[in-house]
Amino acid sequence: MISLNQVEKTFQDTTVLKGVSLSIKDGEIYGIIGQSGAGKSTLLRCINGLEPFDSGEIFVDDVPLSKQDKKSLRNIQKGMGMIFQGFNLLERLNVYQNIALPMRFWGMDTKGEAAKKKIMELVSLVGLSDKLRAFPRELSGGQKQRVAIARALVLDPKFLLCDEATSALDPEITKGILSLLQEINKEMGITIIVVTHQMEVVKQICERVAFLSHGKVLSEGKPELLFVRPEEKEIKDFLREGSERLPEYGINIQLFFNGDNNMEPTVTMMARALDIDFSICWARLDDFRKSVYGSLIINVAPHDRDKVIEFLENRGVMWEVLE
Ligand SMILES: Nc1ncnc2c1ncn2[C@@H]1O[C@H](COP(=O)(O)OP(=O)(O)OP(=O)(O)O)[C@@H](O)[C@H]1O
Ligand SMILES: [Mg+2]
Repeated sequence: MISLNQVEKTFQDTTVLKGVSLSIKDGEIYGIIGQSGAGKSTLLRCINGLEPFDSGEIFVDDVPLSKQDKKSLRNIQKGMGMIFQGFNLLERLNVYQNIALPMRFWGMDTKGEAAKKKIMELVSLVGLSDKLRAFPRELSGGQKQRVAIARALVLDPKFLLCDEATSALDPEITKGILSLLQEINKEMGITIIVVTHQMEVVKQICERVAFLSHGKVLSEGKPELLFVRPEEKEIKDFLREGSERLPEYGINIQLFFNGDNNMEPTVTMMARALDIDFSICWARLDDFRKSVYGSLIINVAPHDRDKVIEFLENRGVMWEVLE
């Protein structure tokens, strides 16, 4: 487990992290999302000990990071694989050699049977068995990221830290990389921390997410709760919902649906049961890992307001009148 308690970090005169507290449980895929400049990369670098912080505490498996000498810190870092947007492969090394690089850094044998077996397993895991002798310039972006993932796993880390790992890739390739991360999490039991500004990434793989804003955690929880029904204006704006134009007459009511109560029948049933007309002003469906969440805004006449709310209450639909 990784836990942060009131972590602060200042560069010269700008405070980048302003008391960040969060905890990442073993075995989960945890997302850190937020606007550019929010402090996401800095936070990740503090977690893996690349960047010292000014105050607060970071514990990795109950070991406080700030109290470690260089050698123990390096050992903790050994247990954390890292991948980046830019892949960071060495151009003059082929796929096999790039993956073996961390072993070389740690003075381990890279040509013996054990190393070979490990590397071949990883190459197969990331689906590049036919590219073993290829050089980075001969690979696509998605393939380069797969090499970087294999390299990050070569020392059997407990954690995999990803900083905008899919930001340079197109949506289809991104999906493949995210499925691979899910497989690594599930099959190998590796805890994954994903830093991203892409909501799609969080929706597809994260079990929990922290929304970071100007160096603070604005909200933390399940992505479906954070995104389907955001409370903070800044998160709404981030999801580009702040700008929705709604009718200025009548009553706007937002309905929230999860996988269990389907939105379409509810709406048509309501029109029939109450014998009223209303318009649908906005709707959205989101896929979160295994479930679909939806949200819908309807505009009803003021005199229908109470019976609509009563109907929704009886059906157990979450609702909110938008002022
Ligand atoms: N080494 C540094 N020296 C001075 N300022 C820095 C340094 N690293 C980051 N910063 C500043 O800290 C702030 C947060 O940067 P950070 O890279 O953590 O943001 P981010 O959320 O990862 O953004 P992005 O989504 O663009 O990657 C920025 O204002 C940045 O300029
Ligand atoms: Mg960043």
